Amino acid sequence: MAIIKFDKSFMFGACTSAEQSEGHKNNFSTNWDIFFKNDPKAFFDEVGPENTSEVYEHYKDDIKLYKELGFDSFRTSFSWARIFPKENIVSKEAIAFYHNYIDELISKNIKVMFCLNHFDLPDWIINKGGLENSSISDNFEEYAKLILDEFGHKIDYLMTFNEPIVPIQCGYLGKFHWPRIIDNKKAIQASYTTILMHSKVINLFNTKYRNLLKTKIGVIVNLSPALAKDCITNSSEDQKAADIFNLLHNYALLDAMCNGTFSDELINLLKQENLMIDIPKNEKEIIAKNKIDFIGINYYSPFRVTARPLEEQKNYNNNLLEKFAMPFSWKESRMNPFRGWEILPDMMDILCKIVKERYNNIPFYISENGMGVQGEEKFRNSEGYIDDYYRIAFIKEHLLSLNKAIIKYNVNCFGYHMWASIDCWSWLNAYKNRYGFIEVDIANGKRIKKASAYWLQEFVKTREFDEKFDLIEKYIDIKTKQ
Ligand code: BGC
Repeated sequence: MAIIKFDKSFMFGACTSAEQSEGHKNNFSTNWDIFFKNDPKAFFDEVGPENTSEVYEHYKDDIKLYKELGFDSFRTSFSWARIFPKENIVSKEAIAFYHNYIDELISKNIKVMFCLNHFDLPDWIINKGGLENSSISDNFEEYAKLILDEFGHKIDYLMTFNEPIVPIQCGYLGKFHWPRIIDNKKAIQASYTTILMHSKVINLFNTKYRNLLKTKIGVIVNLSPALAKDCITNSSEDQKAADIFNLLHNYALLDAMCNGTFSDELINLLKQENLMIDIPKNEKEIIAKNKIDFIGINYYSPFRVTARPLEEQKNYNNNLLEKFAMPFSWKESRMNPFRGWEILPDMMDILCKIVKERYNNIPFYISENGMGVQGEEKFRNSEGYIDDYYRIAFIKEHLLSLNKAIIKYNVNCFGYHMWASIDCWSWLNAYKNRYGFIEVDIANGKRIKKASAYWLQEFVKTREFDEKFDLIEKYIDIKTKQ
């Protein structure tokens, strides 16, 4: 019997985010409120951001459950809009709320991890032009300063962003986030603003706080490595398309945010596409000075791509991400039928390789991994809780692959978090797909542990499991419903 084992210092826990879990008590408004007011039908069942899981009221009970489940760490985000409902106005209620929330985690000996931003922007930032206006990086720095002054001494890990590419990909190269446009020039400007926001905060931290606080600082990115087709029948054009996709989707922001650099390939590509912007010398220096302690990697699925035919590329002036690479759907892929994402745990190997080779073996953790399932109530057992054995299998498959990759590459991976600690509102999908270890009944706010929660609380006691276990397909059909 081969046993997979993680050592005691390896963090286990889960996460959520402010907008997705807290609800909107207090008076503030975000890009998501603007979007929802504008087009409520775009959201599953027309459920908007106002009443998400009500963690604002339930945080004490939730944290009690997290302790029961054995979390040694927990990540969420601050709501910039809750804290600064208007420019230069700080909400005392919001500050008190976050103190209480954090103190509760500390009292349960759970490591405190917060992002400054997880897809949400205050409405007044949107009115200034949002990510298209690079001067909002000064507002972001002020917000970070307030967070560090108030809460710095209580936070173990602070992250500037969660998945910074997503608001760009979904808001400026797609219609899933505000402002819902497809505009390559604006997408590049928004990317640049994001990099500057991150870099100003990192420099603030390194110059004023590093010697005063035990906090570690970093950023969380979603890495979805691009695979050329089925990895068997691909051509060199397909591989080139995958390389460009990786450059734009996975590396462009992280190169700048982690290494302080823009690669020659990226600059050449942007020049070729007439999309390069002028970067003032002083800002280039701020970016080059970036020095972070760790990265978080959210991993759900790879992208399979094939090359767009050359003739089509020539006249293509839509979403840059898809100019060279087109999605490829492989009939052999194991698909999460609800989310439409491929399940490929072996990618942990590639992720560790990327960290080792491209990001100088920086310490990292798997900050999100998870399985969204629609209609989970059909798996409720006679005892009244959801038997999500598919989720337990999903976690084991990924932990097995991660464990092997850590040893193979000798990388410094310090933890694994599931998305999500508790069922939450997932943007346009609202409550359609459930991710949590803990079910939330949105009619009455009731919390009920799922089978995966009971599994976790036993697992963390030994941190080991048998390498032989039943795979996801034993419990759920992940082949046919694509
Ligand atoms: C995001 C979450 C989101 C989840 C499921 C992650 O990439 O960080 O905010 O709810 O995906 O779609």
